[in-house]
Amino acid sequence: MSESPLLKLDQATIQFGGLIAVNNVSFELNKGDLFGLIGPNGAGKTTCFNIITGVYKPTSGKIFFRGRDISGVPSNKIAQEGICRTFQNIRLFQALSVLENVVVGGFLRHKTGLFSGLTLLPNAIKETDHLREEAMKLLEVVNLSHVANHRSADLPYGMQRRLEIARAMATQPDLLLLDEPAAGMNPQEKDELKEVVYRIRDEFDKTVLLIEHDMKFVMGLCERIFVLDRGLEIAHGPPEDIRSNPKVIEAYLGEPV
Ligand SMILES: Nc1ncnc2c1ncn2[C@@H]1O[C@H](COP(=O)(O)OP(=O)(O)O)[C@@H](O)[C@H]1O
Ligand SMILES: [Mg+2]
Repeated sequence: MSESPLLKLDQATIQFGGLIAVNNVSFELNKGDLFGLIGPNGAGKTTCFNIITGVYKPTSGKIFFRGRDISGVPSNKIAQEGICRTFQNIRLFQALSVLENVVVGGFLRHKTGLFSGLTLLPNAIKETDHLREEAMKLLEVVNLSHVANHRSADLPYGMQRRLEIARAMATQPDLLLLDEPAAGMNPQEKDELKEVVYRIRDEFDKTVLLIEHDMKFVMGLCERIFVLDRGLEIAHGPPEDIRSNPKVIEAYLGEPV
């Protein structure tokens, strides 16, 4: 018997008033996949993340995680199930240090709530020490150990994006969703990010679904790519097929990449 896919969208659809933002979308991710979601602005990519993470309930169709129907399950429950995301617009605790931002991610997973952590009960102190150690390891993975005590607001943009990934990793998800992680990065930062994503998949055994506009980045990194345009699937396959697909070129790429 074959195992069920880690994530499955089955004819997922969501309508906002007269607009069908995601229209009958079906795809599957298996454990360990590096999967890219691409398409023009407004195609419905972030909305896919929003229905996977419980921000919205699909109007019709279903979403399965490890074979279980999670359509419409609230966001906090989805996080506990093992799905975590980053956002297209960076959402960090700007006044906290780099390390503290990652520790907060760890709190979300542990039974010690932020409150008992702050009131410094003995168990919470122990757990906080443990979370700090874990957070330092994650900062090493995203190449931010050297700025662990800096205020996150003072980091350059590319580093803030990597910090968001470390914080998401601190919740120990099985599936990590990255919404335009390379946006605004220079070529060197993009190369570093690529290494980070590979480490997350290979050393930490995560499955990664990412939205990205930089075609060189996404085609070089992802093994399978799904192309959306105005809510609809226009192509799905390995990068070599996607880059030469006439529909993708017409709707999105403009010319072969
Ligand atoms: N909460 C919402 N209410 C109304 N329209 C929405 C909402 N969220 C997204 N949309 C619309 O859905 C479409 C897809 O948006 P989005 O998923 O953000 O696109 P992408 O991430 O591919 O650029 C857009 O037309 C957007 O305006
Ligand atoms: Mg988007």
